[in-house]
Amino acid sequence: MEQLLEQIRKQAGEALDSCADLKELDELRIKYLGKKGELTAILKQMGGLSPEERPVMGQRANEVRAYIEEKIKSRMDELGKKALEMRLAQETIDITIPGRRQQMGGLHPLSIVTEDMISIFQSMGFDVVDGPEIETDYYNFEALNLPKDHPARDMQDTFYIAENILLRSQTSAAQVRVMETRKPPIRIICPGRVFRSDEVDATHSPVFHQMEGLVVDRGITMCDLKGVLEQFAHEVYGPETQVRFRPSFFPFTEPSVEVDVSCSACGGTGCKVCKGAGWIEILGAGMVHPNVLRCCGIDPEVYSGFAFGIGLDRITTTRYKISDIRLLFENDVRFLEQFQ
Ligand code: PHE
Repeated sequence: MEQLLEQIRKQAGEALDSCADLKELDELRIKYLGKKGELTAILKQMGGLSPEERPVMGQRANEVRAYIEEKIKSRMDELGKKALEMRLAQETIDITIPGRRQQMGGLHPLSIVTEDMISIFQSMGFDVVDGPEIETDYYNFEALNLPKDHPARDMQDTFYIAENILLRSQTSAAQVRVMETRKPPIRIICPGRVFRSDEVDATHSPVFHQMEGLVVDRGITMCDLKGVLEQFAHEVYGPETQVRFRPSFFPFTEPSVEVDVSCSACGGTGCKVCKGAGWIEILGAGMVHPNVLRCCGIDPEVYSGFAFGIGLDRITTTRYKISDIRLLFENDVRFLEQFQ
């Protein structure tokens, strides 16, 4: 039996030394120490020994068991460490690999221009207001000194939803709403979408954008109008830009003007952008008609004001030298990406 024990000790020792992983180690533990293991089998034979031999062999067997247990424990530590090292090596992250760039969205050029213009007017003390895109005939025309049969309505043929309900053809509709609800001094701008039943081409679209401006106070004159709009034009197009006021007509302003700026593409000599004119028309404006003030409950004997309507699409196309207004509405990402 002693020999047998020694043989088990030796075999187990060698097997444990050469075992390669934790799984194999566990199999060896069962093989030698398990209930049906080799050492257990020998201990079961102890009953057949003489009383003198039994304690001696018992002690031997315990030594062998302790030896194997100790060996298993130390191998377990070693193999565990090895397994961990292997896992760490496999999971290593190469922090020098360049990252994948995130595709960033950007603002639409019209939004960029609108926001720039809002901040120009805000710095001059204007509030930003919003007006509805679906309007009544009253706000879009009637209250702006355009009675039902007025011939100037032809210039702004729009889309009707019902008899007196339409898509606004001009942000001027917001003027009336503001004057009805605020007392002078009034200083507002109202950017937004407007609609006209125009055929689509390179310079026309049935949907486009305007920014209305309105100032009403005591003693407002045409000089204030000129000063504000000149300042605005210089901030948008640069201080060297020339500004030209041409007499014009709008039913809700008197006198009325159209404002041109010298073409920023050619400096005024004439090119494709300005169609050879050297000038680009950017807005309509004028002194608020006394009829409009009166209609909104403001006494024209006490107060006066000026209003303007800027074409945002025109400002955008000239600023970025975009040759076709349709590009602003088609939303081709290859076009839009250029403004990020
Ligand atoms: N609403 C006019 C247009 O759409 C522009 C304008 C606004 C003119 C305010 C004068 C004053 O053509």
